[in-house]
Amino acid sequence: MPMTKLWTPDSWRALPIRQVPEYPDPALLAEVEARLKGYPPLVFAGEARNLTKALGDVALGKAFLLQGGDCAESFAEFHPNNIRDTFRVLLQMAVVLTFAAACPVVKVGRMAGQFAKPRSAPMEEIDGVELPSYRGDNINGMEFTAEARRPDPNRLLQAYLQSASTLNLLRAFAQGGYADLHAVHRWNLGYIANSPQGERYGALADRITEALAFMEACGVNPNTTPSLRQTDFYTSHEALLLGYEQAMTREDSTQGGWYDTSAHMLWIGDRTRKIDEAHVEFMRGIRNPIGMKVGPSMDPDDLVRLTEALNPANEPGRLTLIVRMGHDQVEAKLPPLIRAIQRAGRVVVWSSDPMHGNTVKSSNGYKTRPFDRILAEVRAFFAVHQAEGTYAGGVHFEMTGQDVTECIGGAQEIGELELADRYHTHCDPRLNASQALELAFLIAEGLKSERQALATASWAAE
Ligand code: TRP
Ligand code: MN
Repeated sequence: MPMTKLWTPDSWRALPIRQVPEYPDPALLAEVEARLKGYPPLVFAGEARNLTKALGDVALGKAFLLQGGDCAESFAEFHPNNIRDTFRVLLQMAVVLTFAAACPVVKVGRMAGQFAKPRSAPMEEIDGVELPSYRGDNINGMEFTAEARRPDPNRLLQAYLQSASTLNLLRAFAQGGYADLHAVHRWNLGYIANSPQGERYGALADRITEALAFMEACGVNPNTTPSLRQTDFYTSHEALLLGYEQAMTREDSTQGGWYDTSAHMLWIGDRTRKIDEAHVEFMRGIRNPIGMKVGPSMDPDDLVRLTEALNPANEPGRLTLIVRMGHDQVEAKLPPLIRAIQRAGRVVVWSSDPMHGNTVKSSNGYKTRPFDRILAEVRAFFAVHQAEGTYAGGVHFEMTGQDVTECIGGAQEIGELELADRYHTHCDPRLNASQALELAFLIAEGLKSERQALATASWAAE
């Protein structure tokens, strides 16, 4: 068992690994990784610890985790407006939840590093031509040519630079005034302001503005209470490309321990979570808060063993289980997992990914996701936790601030034919701003009744 062995940032290299590209030039790869090792960390260990603490509150039912962003970031769509638009939809969702459910929200972007993609097949064939699959812009190019599909280590440097400048802008937005609650109306994007979701949001923003004016009159303002004008925003991505993650892993000079400084939070995918393989080995040793995707094939005993391996000290906030079952499987598959975790006394954050189990092919050939199935999975997730007496602590979703047509349904009633209008994703279909807001309102309702039930239960117990 690797779990009893000494961990080092490269101990994963001795173990079987899945989903790694074959670089034609390993010497160049080693050179690039060595260079990355000398680059500045993107996040600071203290920030990762703060996120663990915030997620610890989520695990104990005192806050809610909102984690979202692009399926895959790309070099081509790297533009400040795209970063800003994704960020402001996340702010809108966060403020809906904070206000409507009166619950603190931990905000984590799938941003500033979310490039690498696991693939179902290593090769792709079109018209008799076979080439390596596209694995994300940090590895190869999407274009179907031998040249583009060849894994190129220099792309790692490009991904690092893009992550650094994305994170820089996000920090500026979060701390520099853009996220000020007094700007709550301004986050309503132009193209949704007049939609039903935009109007619903506008009404909520009116009430927040009114509450702020009232508090101001009572002497509570951004000078007395700086948290009114700033927010903590964290970054995350799937830790798939372990060479890159290892190069970004540094020992904390203040308190010791190894942190993967490529993001605040990292997660393991459903395809790479084997207990005796490389990805679990790497993740168990870093001190960042981590996530693990949990799909329908997860066995309850395996899940308990994985939580023991990944969080031996049972520290609240260290481990988030991101459940992605599919709308019609949550009710059957989730309860046995919850019960196993409860029986074993493991502390976890339960989060719902309602995207990845609900991908279908439209009749006109698009990979899409029916919005009503996404909502159905979230609803079922809340209902199961309510029935089990456990806390539905968060959601994980793929969205963009752009006005895309990638998921069918929602208040704009995007149909199969409309998919062709603005289908821009590099990977999976994402919610657009209007659908993301609609999702936030649904979650707010679920969260509100969950919190009321918890409050009644603790009141009854006193
Ligand atoms: N600082 C608080 C928080 O992050 C309040 C806040 C400021 C906020 N700006 C925000 C909440 C934007 C949501 C969205 O929760
Ligand atoms: Mn995806």
